[in-house]
Amino acid sequence: MADLDDIRDGKEYGLGIEQKNEKYFLKGSANLNWGMKDRLSRIFNPKTGNSVMLAFDHGFLMGPTSGLERIDLTITPLMKYADCLMCARGVLTALVPTTLRKPVCLRSDAGSTILTEMNHNVVMDVKNAVALNASAMAVMVGIGDPTCEAETVANLYRTVDAAQPYGIPVMGVTAVGKDMVRDARYFGLAARVCAENGANIVKTYYTEGFEKVVACCPVPIVIAGGKKLPELEALELAYKAIQSGAAGVDMGRNVFQSDAPAAIIQAIGAVVHKGMKPAEALQMFNDLKK
Ligand code: R5P
Repeated sequence: MADLDDIRDGKEYGLGIEQKNEKYFLKGSANLNWGMKDRLSRIFNPKTGNSVMLAFDHGFLMGPTSGLERIDLTITPLMKYADCLMCARGVLTALVPTTLRKPVCLRSDAGSTILTEMNHNVVMDVKNAVALNASAMAVMVGIGDPTCEAETVANLYRTVDAAQPYGIPVMGVTAVGKDMVRDARYFGLAARVCAENGANIVKTYYTEGFEKVVACCPVPIVIAGGKKLPELEALELAYKAIQSGAAGVDMGRNVFQSDAPAAIIQAIGAVVHKGMKPAEALQMFNDLKK
């Protein structure tokens, strides 16, 4: 039996003081369950509302691309600067330290490589994502690609169905079909389709008129970096995205293919969380690089 000695009656009831109810900080997420919100709060910094996600999932379709040949040598030292890690389960299990305590956005689909067209993607069993303690599951959606649009939208839909009961948010990763024009109209459509089908986060690309893409997407958007750019341009990309309302970046090549990856990820962090202007962030990059 529990120890019943010295049980004291409560005294401080705060009568007359209204209970503090949390106003959730993230767009479109107020009605999610506690587990979802807890996980999203690990990915996005509740103070700034934004996130620097470090993407190194490229190997799942590109193999050992430049900068990712040895994750342990090039990526592990950067992990501490990221708010969230985005990778596939093989690399997570083999190479990401379990003592790091960083949230993971788990690449949860597979099916094609750069050697073939996108096709027949499958999604992992949500129980495996739970076992890997994923803070989010990411699946690709090929809007406008006739070979895979229906299948990848269905993948997203099914992943949301599977992940929701476990309180795991899903990220829709918009893959741009070869014949698609990379403009705000296209990205607005792709982002909105992901959100309407249940994505809690959308990852897409920055484009002119991005504020419209953000405005019509009811959940947070993070941008991919795309191909390696000179550092100032990468910082400008991040700055413009944040100023247009993006909730962060999910960048890979512009970090790990930089001459000074630790410096650039910290400078990107200053842009994302402090709104630092690109010129100042470049100065920060150069100072850190020294
Ligand atoms: C690509 O397959 C992955 O989804 C990447 O995580 C994504 O493209 C972001 O990486 P990057 O900034 O290199 O474009």
